[in-house]
Amino acid sequence: MDTYKTILTKLDVRQFDAKKVPADVKLKVLEAARASGTGINKQHWRFILVQDKVVIKKLAEDSTSGGWVAGADFAVIVLAEPQLGFHLIDSGRAVQDMQLAAWDQGVISGLYTGFKEDRMRRDFAIPDELKPTVVVGFGYPTMKILGKKNRRPLSELAFVDKYGTKFEPKKLN
Ligand SMILES: Cc1cc2nc3c(=O)[nH]c(=O)nc-3n(C[C@H](O)[C@H](O)[C@H](O)COP(=O)(O)O)c2cc1C
Repeated sequence: MDTYKTILTKLDVRQFDAKKVPADVKLKVLEAARASGTGINKQHWRFILVQDKVVIKKLAEDSTSGGWVAGADFAVIVLAEPQLGFHLIDSGRAVQDMQLAAWDQGVISGLYTGFKEDRMRRDFAIPDELKPTVVVGFGYPTMKILGKKNRRPLSELAFVDKYGTKFEPKKLN
């Protein structure tokens, strides 16, 4: 898929088909995470691939806002070093790259950030120095994804030269 189209049509989806995602697509997803940039190239993130159905169910039980991950074909737990300060932006970049790489292969995904952290640390052997930041669940869609996003218009979101001067396409030079 064309990169721009991939970005514009990717949705965060929470319902998945039972069809299995092939190993090469999973590998692409993890490679996309690895390829994402980190502050001062620290590469402090770590990724736990969860693909066993029983373990995915446990992941769902350890969540406060992502119970839907139980239906995913696989999930990735993103961990990062919170002492760095930029751990959330680095996690977010890895997550978005994984989601776009997956969608490019027709695989949808959703993310969540609500964890029962103590349980999750115990169940997934997460070391103290790393913080679980995001979980992404992946799978094939159950229906055709139309890619229509619910977003405010650029005229509300973007400004030109200073905050308050509304962006309009005709102001582009
Ligand atoms: C930082 C962040 C945290 C999120 N946390 C959750 C969450 O805990 N549970 C959930 O179901 N979705 C979560 N989402 C998904 C958002 O609800 C979703 O990105 C938003 O509704 C836009 O979805 P769309 O791109 O499909 O329009 C989160 C998204 C972001 C960026």
